[in-house]
Amino acid sequence: MNSETPGQTAATAPHGADNRRGPLRPGERVQLTDEKGRHSTITLTEGGAFHTHRGFLPHDTIIGKPEGTIVTNTTGQQYQVLRPLLSDFVLSMPRGAAVVYPKDAGQIVTMADIYPGARVVEAGVGSGALSISLLRAVGDYGSLHSFERREEFADIARGNVETFFGGPHPAWNITLGDFQEEVVRTEEPGSVDRVVLDMLAPWECTDAVATVLAPGGVWISYVATVTQLSRTAEAIRADGRFTEPDGWESMVRGWHLEGLAVRPDHRMVAHTGFLLTARRLAEGATGLVAKRRASKTNFSEEDLNAWTPAAVGEREVSAHKLRRAARDASSKVQRGALENAEKYNADQDGTPETP
Ligand SMILES: C[S@@+](CC[C@H](N)C(=O)[O-])C[C@H]1O[C@@H](n2cnc3c(N)ncnc32)[C@H](O)[C@@H]1O
Repeated sequence: MNSETPGQTAATAPHGADNRRGPLRPGERVQLTDEKGRHSTITLTEGGAFHTHRGFLPHDTIIGKPEGTIVTNTTGQQYQVLRPLLSDFVLSMPRGAAVVYPKDAGQIVTMADIYPGARVVEAGVGSGALSISLLRAVGDYGSLHSFERREEFADIARGNVETFFGGPHPAWNITLGDFQEEVVRTEEPGSVDRVVLDMLAPWECTDAVATVLAPGGVWISYVATVTQLSRTAEAIRADGRFTEPDGWESMVRGWHLEGLAVRPDHRMVAHTGFLLTARRLAEGATGLVAKRRASKTNFSEEDLNAWTPAAVGEREVSAHKLRRAARDASSKVQRGALENAEKYNADQDGTPETP
């Protein structure tokens, strides 16, 4: 675990707020936005230049200026200069695997209660987008231990994290390998505050998560499909060492704001993934299970392949009820036909004859 250096504050720490304040410095990344709203991100170097087919912009016209400055290149093109936000960076950084979008990263940090100084483990690391948000939340004196089974992804993530923070982050380390095997080897039982999983099969990690998570610790999983959501929730219940799982999704709809034309955008990112949380119970405690009517729905491998009503928790409908519904439906059709016929006749009677 990292410890605070005497005399250092959260602002002056290696990745503290002071790095993002004040005039723009050589070595910093800045986002240029042109008059058409197109973004380019550059790293400022003394004597460097940003070239396009419409002239070039010397970096020295930016260095030393405040954020929000408007600069002009050699052919009169104007650019607005800002430090990129985390959300700008994540959406434009190199990707190996699908990234967790900022809207979900925000939910994860808040709903998994990731706090400064927390001990967090994460898998898989993918492109490192979520790792950046988690590192921001734990801060320089917390710890984020990320597990990734594929070396190429770990390399991409390392590159992205280091680019974003301007070098290695003191709270971060990556272990290569399968989370469920490596985490129990590297973390003491009951020592981890939060577990964050974004992977294909989080249900395979239930035992490992229960082993390393401290009592009261939060486990959050991000999954892309309802089949994964359902299987993870059932694995958590079956394990018995966690509270009842909570699942949800979030949707964010941008708005077009122009004069009186204020309305939702025509396009949106409609689906990213689902989130699921559960908390570790104290050792030996038995979870309170919500009282439900007796159910015949046992979750099995077969259910994954066939969406039977039982597998999705629907009540079995008796053959008798189905026959009655069919009779109702058919009598409605007949009644409708009769009413239509009467209406037709009435219309015919009332229609003036053509001359
Ligand atoms: C969708 S990506 C993660 C994206 C990442 N959260 C981000 O925001 O950039 C899923 C990653 O999980 C890794 N993975 C899948 N199962 C794993 C396991 N059991 N242990 C470690 N890594 C795993 C995959 O190799 C892949 O890189």
